Amino acid sequence: MTEIVHLVGCGPGGPDWVPPRAREIVRKADVIFGPSDLQDLFPEAPGARMDLPARPENAAPLVLAALGRRLGCAVLVRGDCGLHSLAKGLQSRLPAGACRRIAGVSSVQVACAAFGLDWQGARILSAHGRPLQELGPDDRQVPLVVVLGGGERFHEILERTREALGPWRLHLASDVTLPTESLRTIAPGERIPSGLPSRTIALFERTGP
Ligand SMILES: C[S@@+](CC[C@H](N)C(=O)[O-])C[C@H]1O[C@@H](n2cnc3c(N)ncnc32)[C@H](O)[C@@H]1O
Repeated sequence: MTEIVHLVGCGPGGPDWVPPRAREIVRKADVIFGPSDLQDLFPEAPGARMDLPARPENAAPLVLAALGRRLGCAVLVRGDCGLHSLAKGLQSRLPAGACRRIAGVSSVQVACAAFGLDWQGARILSAHGRPLQELGPDDRQVPLVVVLGGGERFHEILERTREALGPWRLHLASDVTLPTESLRTIAPGERIPSGLPSRTIALFERTGP
């Protein structure tokens, strides 16, 4: 295999959601980087396995070292590599042209489909280890505001987003495609549950004009 780093979108976690193209690429890789739950999606792949630090500045040297040894690398990322993914930070730290992205099904797509919603035109925010992102006036015009979960402030961010948006419908999708999947719609006035899994997508659906 030539020294290419494939950034592989693995889908939301369920084995049925791994694209065949991803399976083929990972099977051919000399080194497979990624968290153990994603590694477990590829039991047939013979490559050496290694977890990666979450921060791209810490992950990039490990991938660079494998590239330097002329090893073909696959980096497994959740969902699709083009949405709040390690792929972006990693790609910018590796030599130009060294990376190739393999698209996966995003957890946002699956969550929207589960509630019968379009994601076209959605504003997508992340609560993942980042400070609270404020909603601007333009965000209230969109049909859907999506908040990716994770981080200690997720619950607070959901409360504040609901306060800012008013009477939008709130849907919560946790662990989609996994045996622990939970899908629920929170009624107006109902408390937003605390202790949501980090693998949660919140969908605020605009109900008014
Ligand atoms: C770093 S972001 C990566 C998003 C990913 N690139 C995608 O397209 O799905 C991680 C967040 O994705 C969401 N997520 C990933 N897998 C999920 C799942 N199976 N169920 C619900 N949310 C999930 C959660 O909000 C989680 O905190």
